[in-house]
Amino acid sequence: MRQNIEWQELGFKYMQTDCFVRADFKDGKWGALQVSDKPEMQIHIASTCFHYGQACFEGLKAFTQVNGDIRIFRPEQNARRMEKTARRLMMQPVPEELFLEAVNLVVKKNLDYVPPYGTGASLYIRPLLIGSSPYVGVHPSDDYIFLVLCIPVGPYYKNGFYPVKAIVQEGYDRAAPRGVGNVKAAGNYAAGMLGDFEGKEKGYPISLYLDSATHSLIDEFGTSNFLAITKDNKYVTPDSTSILGSITNDSLQTIARDFGMEVEKRHIPVTELSEFTEVGACGTAAVLTPVYSITHGEKIYTFGKECEAGHTLTRLFKQMQGIQYGEIEDKHDWMMKLR
Ligand code: PLP
Ligand code: COI
Repeated sequence: MRQNIEWQELGFKYMQTDCFVRADFKDGKWGALQVSDKPEMQIHIASTCFHYGQACFEGLKAFTQVNGDIRIFRPEQNARRMEKTARRLMMQPVPEELFLEAVNLVVKKNLDYVPPYGTGASLYIRPLLIGSSPYVGVHPSDDYIFLVLCIPVGPYYKNGFYPVKAIVQEGYDRAAPRGVGNVKAAGNYAAGMLGDFEGKEKGYPISLYLDSATHSLIDEFGTSNFLAITKDNKYVTPDSTSILGSITNDSLQTIARDFGMEVEKRHIPVTELSEFTEVGACGTAAVLTPVYSITHGEKIYTFGKECEAGHTLTRLFKQMQGIQYGEIEDKHDWMMKLR
């Protein structure tokens, strides 16, 4: 039976569900998936994940669709991105099939926590990979733990599809051009916490990071990609070696092309902000969050109305959600059915 949860009231917080799933890489091979109902585990205090940051994660969502099906949005893309991250951090990659099996299993074992259709909520799935061998010299781990947990979630920013105010982070860089900003290393989020926190204290829920080499080009927001709409209705998004390749952004670009829009992936000077009619932050957690203003030092750039998302972002958002909730044909085959 579905849990008695106020689905419409959900934000983005940890909640214990029935179980998580786990597989261990030991003696040079992956073991079988195990299901555990206890959220604690034993791990060596000298594990490389703690000392040297051999830790990475993914984020994806499952939706209850209008016909009652439960489907997961583009999980194979997350599997591939986690593999890329693992290789960059010299970690043992999780085979795509194991990743998909684990994601599928965690949803099946937590069906009571999958939000019903019509609530606007979804099930957030969080795969995690950590190095678990004890090394005190800097050295890649031999053993790894791969686990997947899930939580029912609502909007990441409290008002959902409603404009937010952003600030350009001027005190700190988040990722270097040849660093690990293009993969989902857990440490990237620690690197961004202080800047994001200081921005929030000043009343800006989102921080925008510029490229750390020149501080003149737009990179991305702390936990989402940047996209903008131009006066002639083009979809523009940064090309940078230090940002995460967002699966949401990729999907929105495809939808934009389906709408007949031109998509440009290129360098975006921060001064070009004055040219855009709409700006959005996109990601699994953020979905598509309209940005009303971006403060850069003394300058404030604004886009559209303070209390209403712009026309093009609204259209993109509705199409994306329509596909995710099974109301609109999934012609790109993005929604994986539970096996
Ligand atoms: N950029 C960063 C830094 C993120 O943490 C995320 C979230 O995963 C994204 C972009 C968006 O990526 P995706 O759409 O694949 O969730
Ligand atoms: C996601 O959108 O899945 C993210 O990873 C953002 C997050 C760190 C909450």
